[in-house]
Amino acid sequence: MATDITFIILGATGDLTKRKIIPAIYRLAQEKAFTNFAIIGVALPDVSIETVLKSAVPFIKKIDRRVWKKIENSSYYLPFDFYNKNDYSKLKATIKDVEKRHKLSGNHVFYFATMPDHFTTITQQLALHGIVTKQQLKPNEESWPRVVYEKPFGSDLQSARDINRSILKVFNENQVYRIDHYLGKELIGNIALVRFTNAVFEPLWNKKFIDSVQIVLSEKIGIEGRGEYYDKYGAMKDMLQSHMLQMLALVGMEVPRALGGKNIRDAKTRVLKKVKVESAIVGQYEGYREENGVAAHSKTDTFVAAKLYIDNARWKGVPFYLKTGKNLDKKEISIHIKFKMVKCLLSTCPSDSNYLTIRVQPNEGFFVELNTKVPGSYEVMPVSMDFCHKCLFGPNTPEAYENLLLDVTRGDQSVFLHKDEIELSWKIAGEIEKKRGPLHVYKKQSSGPAELKNLDPKRDIRWRA
Ligand code: BG6
Repeated sequence: MATDITFIILGATGDLTKRKIIPAIYRLAQEKAFTNFAIIGVALPDVSIETVLKSAVPFIKKIDRRVWKKIENSSYYLPFDFYNKNDYSKLKATIKDVEKRHKLSGNHVFYFATMPDHFTTITQQLALHGIVTKQQLKPNEESWPRVVYEKPFGSDLQSARDINRSILKVFNENQVYRIDHYLGKELIGNIALVRFTNAVFEPLWNKKFIDSVQIVLSEKIGIEGRGEYYDKYGAMKDMLQSHMLQMLALVGMEVPRALGGKNIRDAKTRVLKKVKVESAIVGQYEGYREENGVAAHSKTDTFVAAKLYIDNARWKGVPFYLKTGKNLDKKEISIHIKFKMVKCLLSTCPSDSNYLTIRVQPNEGFFVELNTKVPGSYEVMPVSMDFCHKCLFGPNTPEAYENLLLDVTRGDQSVFLHKDEIELSWKIAGEIEKKRGPLHVYKKQSSGPAELKNLDPKRDIRWRA
């Protein structure tokens, strides 16, 4: 249902605003996802709205001048100190003015594009100044405030709990949208759908037929000038705690009551409660300590691999191997479901079993690896059956942030994280932290530390990516 919206971006001069938020609003405006809108950006630097918008231009493919003009005419900027009470009074007045000028009806999306340390203070001040109110939203309520918190949501279990406690004094859970942008990626949205709408997969989706699962998120890029942030977090907290545990939860969850609404969130929460950590290996790329903003003796991990189990009837004994790192030899986000070997009936047996690969990026698609006969012999060879997403749907599928912002405007929370999911993920992260062992150095643009083989010494893991 299209409506009119005022976006208030807290942290409007940051990287996320220019790379993701403004481009996503631009595309939604182009697709007429809302009837009318305005953008109010706030942040500490004393800059102009022109500067903020200009910084987003390189991240928008092919600008449509008419849409961009509308963005320019509907955007405002306010220099803002999150810790100065007077600035909140100015913000309140600005929102009122802008809405009057653009005839907007008071639907507010507050987007927290800031570090999590500021979440509590800003939320409390917005409430104290009467800028936001707690509402039990009904589906067709006339005007509403919704609030989006960017990842990372806290830095450990305690800080995530503290933030949740304080923001839920101000908002109802149904006004809160905690982002993990991976859930906005098309192929991740596809995992549950493919599992639960195909009889060739769902009956096999358990310990009887599945040998192991690999979830890989490798990046060629390094920390890209984000040393100060990254050195406090590292690969485990930046990637594994959020994106990778969400991917694991989608693969591992029980059949939800329906594929939408709160059902998927509940099913993911139940599976996260059952995750057990067996082992973890951490690494740091050579030269990391010389990066800007990084401590000279930093022990921060830029690589982490973990072996986890889901301790329930469906998955007992099936290892889930997770691996992520910066400055690796390739960019790939993928999930590999390895099926068990069938009994060998031939003189030359297959060298490996079947795999289902869900390739999230790049070359998005699903790939099933089957064993087949080599012509003219009884040799067995693996062949791949491909579903190439781009070949079928074209290259212009919506970006994650576009999907996510659209859901916020529609009031659909199914791909946002519930408070319990976040807290359970931090609990698992804490357990991985305890098992992480020494930090191993690896070369840039390599496949990670050689010690990765110690993740599961009893098995030859054979990483697929
Ligand atoms: C972010 C992390 O959440 O995800 C970054 O903070 C990482 O360190 C990024 O590079 C990866 O996202 P994508 O969409 O490029 O795979």
